[in-house]
Amino acid sequence: MASRPTFLTRRFGGYFHRDVPPEDAELTHVGPGTPCGEYLRRYWQPVCFTDELQDLPLRVSLLGEELVVFRDLSGAVGLLELRCPHRGTSLEYGLIGAKGIRCCYHAWLFDVDGTILETPGEPADSTLKDRLCHGAYPTHEYGGIVFAYMGPPDQQPPFPVYDSFIRPGSRLLPGRKYFYPCNWLQIMENAMDPVHTAFLHTIVSGAQFTDQFGVLPELEFIDTPVGMMYIATRRVGDNVWARMVEAILPNLQQVAPAWEDGQKEHPFSGPMMSRWIVPQDDTHTMFIEFRHVSETEGVTPSWWADRSVMLPGQLAADSYEASQRQPGDYEAQVGQRPIAIHALEHLGATDRGITMFRQHIRRGIRSVQDGRAPAGLWRDARTAIPTYANDTVVRVPPAATPEEDPHLLRETGRRLALSYLKDPPLAVL
Ligand code: FES
Ligand SMILES: [Fe+2]
Repeated sequence: MASRPTFLTRRFGGYFHRDVPPEDAELTHVGPGTPCGEYLRRYWQPVCFTDELQDLPLRVSLLGEELVVFRDLSGAVGLLELRCPHRGTSLEYGLIGAKGIRCCYHAWLFDVDGTILETPGEPADSTLKDRLCHGAYPTHEYGGIVFAYMGPPDQQPPFPVYDSFIRPGSRLLPGRKYFYPCNWLQIMENAMDPVHTAFLHTIVSGAQFTDQFGVLPELEFIDTPVGMMYIATRRVGDNVWARMVEAILPNLQQVAPAWEDGQKEHPFSGPMMSRWIVPQDDTHTMFIEFRHVSETEGVTPSWWADRSVMLPGQLAADSYEASQRQPGDYEAQVGQRPIAIHALEHLGATDRGITMFRQHIRRGIRSVQDGRAPAGLWRDARTAIPTYANDTVVRVPPAATPEEDPHLLRETGRRLALSYLKDPPLAVL
């Protein structure tokens, strides 16, 4: 077969375009020992909601590992390797006890740190349990989510508290958890692709957010202390609406409100959502979110505080036909293949955010390989980490010229975004 040209210029040229190069394994493979897997393991990762931990163990997959999570009757949370170290039965069938979890098969008992407390079928003088540990990871509960650190124990960072979590006038609530059958990276990239909010979410599928998202924004992409953000600036009548969405390294998205319409002037809103994009394995990914709800009535729509309600356009459509008629994020991202193949893409000017984000991830991966701390880790547990996701609307009547200068609009948005600086940083209490 003919080899594939990277830029096909021939009409009816499908014959020359059939072989498929491999995915970028460095950025997309997440299992133990892979470059990206080791990188992601340097950060605290969400596991589940705390209220999922009831009287039965919960089986989970994280970063290509099969695990079980539970809360014992003393209140301690354990995240252990799924398979019992005795003869390999799954601890999802285990019994949660006063302390730890007991395997259903021969009743070995494991504490949350992997200590083997009992091996009841063994002779009384057996020392097996004193010599052996089961695999376990440290956990931390915050705001209704259980987090775990799965990296080298001597590299464990403090748990990161972002300033949006403790923003005055705003409450943090656990939101929804849902799954896409595709690689984590293409989901993270979606947050740095603001043009799709105009096309996919508005022009193509009808307004899944508000009509004003259908205005093509002027775009700016800026590095932040812990990642990057886009600034999408739109003209709405006499107003300028600047929207900032943020990719916090390596796999946290902070998203500005989807209900904004730019009609009414208002100061910075803060994000509506902090959402982790957690790889279960190379081709399956969990979304798990905090929602930010204003304590001032009417600022956040009441439906947003209802955890059962979902943001439009995020889940798979009800039927195949519906997914074709009104595709949303699920169809767009899963439709890129189980793992998107970068060598097949043809990136344009509006894809700068994608390129920047991949560079951030590649730099982080290589930092870990070189024995350095990757960007985005915050070592000071006393200060909240500064973040930027926001909406603001200000009255800036357009100039009297028939066409507004797009550079001027972009610069206005950039100035607005950068004025959201917090000095001094919020303290973690
Ligand atoms: S397999 Fe778990 S105790 Fe035997
Ligand atoms: Fe989207």
